[in-house]
Amino acid sequence: MCGIIGYTGNRKSVPILLEGLKTLEYRGYDSAGISVTDDQSVTTVKAKGRLSVLENKLNASEELTATCGIGHTRWATHGEPSDINSHPHSAEHLTLVHNGIIENYAEIGEMLRGVGYTFVSETDTERAAKLLDMFYAKSHDPLEAIFSACRVIRGSYAFGIMFNDRPEVIYSIRKDSPLIVAHESGNGSFIASDIPAILKYTRSYYRLEEGVVAQISKDGVVFYNSEMEPVSQTLEEVDWDVEQAQKGGYPHFMLKEIHEEPEALRKTLEPRIKDGLPHFGIEQLDGEFLAHFTGIHIVACGTAYHAGLIGKAIIEKLARVPVNVEIASEFRYRDPILRPNDLVILLSQSGETADTLAALRHAKAQGIYTLAIVNVIGSSVAREADSVLYTWAGPEIAVASTKAYSVQCSLLYLLALRMTLANRTLEEETVRRICDSMLTKIPSVIAETLKLNDQIYGYAKQIVNAEHVFYIGRDMDWALCTEGSLKLKEISYIHSEAYAAGELKHGTISLITDGIPVIALTTVSKVCEKTVSGIREVKSRGALVIAFAARELAEKYEIPHDELLIIPEIDELLMPFPAVTVLQLLAYHVSALKGLDVDKPRNLAKSVTVE
Ligand code: F6R
Repeated sequence: MCGIIGYTGNRKSVPILLEGLKTLEYRGYDSAGISVTDDQSVTTVKAKGRLSVLENKLNASEELTATCGIGHTRWATHGEPSDINSHPHSAEHLTLVHNGIIENYAEIGEMLRGVGYTFVSETDTERAAKLLDMFYAKSHDPLEAIFSACRVIRGSYAFGIMFNDRPEVIYSIRKDSPLIVAHESGNGSFIASDIPAILKYTRSYYRLEEGVVAQISKDGVVFYNSEMEPVSQTLEEVDWDVEQAQKGGYPHFMLKEIHEEPEALRKTLEPRIKDGLPHFGIEQLDGEFLAHFTGIHIVACGTAYHAGLIGKAIIEKLARVPVNVEIASEFRYRDPILRPNDLVILLSQSGETADTLAALRHAKAQGIYTLAIVNVIGSSVAREADSVLYTWAGPEIAVASTKAYSVQCSLLYLLALRMTLANRTLEEETVRRICDSMLTKIPSVIAETLKLNDQIYGYAKQIVNAEHVFYIGRDMDWALCTEGSLKLKEISYIHSEAYAAGELKHGTISLITDGIPVIALTTVSKVCEKTVSGIREVKSRGALVIAFAARELAEKYEIPHDELLIIPEIDELLMPFPAVTVLQLLAYHVSALKGLDVDKPRNLAKSVTVE
């Protein structure tokens, strides 16, 4: 979603804004712009397309030396991607950038037209700029104008605002959209949508609380509550470095992040296994309280939703507690039945996904205990849930989520194991054995799997020109297929679907013709024979079958195939970890072979902060 950067200080603002925007590119965008201001005037340059287009435009114009400015990458919601619809947007007294969606923008526009305002763009943001302008024209008080405008606006927002008569000061406020504030002494102050944008300058930052205005100048940062009184915000420290947010020699972030899986899993699991047993350090999750949950809802979007499917399989298998996995955008409106003893788990890499956040609020409003499993520290979902388990995957930059999926699955496994202790559905010794395997074997088996890269690249070459690809499997394998299929379609633009192998004959098999690639996954012994029947059905109709199988099963059953890859061995229960790495690498290579923008697939954003 949109990216915001703002800088005011002693240095020229344009290079700082452009660099900041580059670090926010991963959020997804289709146009970009900056406004800089000095005592005299505000200059705005905007361009549809990639940042390089904006950069060229800036290079072609007179050098801008102003030391205060705001920048924005826009992911179109209201109005097509165009120069005019790009941010910043200006009104008589101010210029601003915005991330989020203003739901009552039409109403606001109507009201403003009634008092003489006109609009040049189709955006909700321009309506917000002019609403703020209307209030500012009355009071000439930035705080009063901002709080008044926010009382009218419905929806989500993070704003960066420059008032014409207050050069070198930037104001900011947010609701349901992320924004951080930072100051580097001797240099200046920043606002940004995410940490990588400021990491080059400082490791300390404030995560702006909702409803608090930040006023930044070259000398420092002041925060005000809605009573317009100064308030303090918590200064936080970044515990990862620039290197971690860069490609580190890999051609793409996605490949780098797949290679980071062993380390990410180690970091996520190690602190949660004490004396050989799962331990979360959260009373409700470690004590008997856990046994009182008689039903679980896992709510998430996209890849996180697919991790939820793995969670369902493992929790139901081990802890025997019924689990409902739900797409957050459905959950929030469906009015699902939530019972007092239910637990709602929100899974999210970013912790800012609008639908997941809304689902969390929906559950909390009904008094249901909520647990967030989130990667980004201090994100909205993490802060609002009753308790949070952080995944320690480090920053995930590629739009296609990979390591975040693996760590989400790993925490759901640990939770399932902790529940078995509370519910007494497994012997402590068995839990200990599984925990030990998770800690000692998962990172190394993924490292082994990464060595199969060349073989997987070979399969990618075979399917790179396909128009359709099907993924089949049963039980956990089917859950994994849903993720493999999403990975492929989102970054390679090949149509792909995942099917429970037994479901094929109820319709989809009519799509199987000569040469259609079918990726078959067989790691679950209980259903392997059944999956093999499904594979036979597609093979006999001409499908190109690429099978990924557990060694033991490939030896026991004759798996029909054109290509067969043996997934490195680990206890069957833990097979999803190496298996998903294979699926991720396959999707990666197809996209790279097609020469596509692997890390920034079209139309997608890393953090979906609008509905
Ligand atoms: C796909 C992908 C998305 C996200 C989804 C939820 O590779 O990354 O499907 O998983 O948008 O995002 P988070 O986990 O940030 O809530």
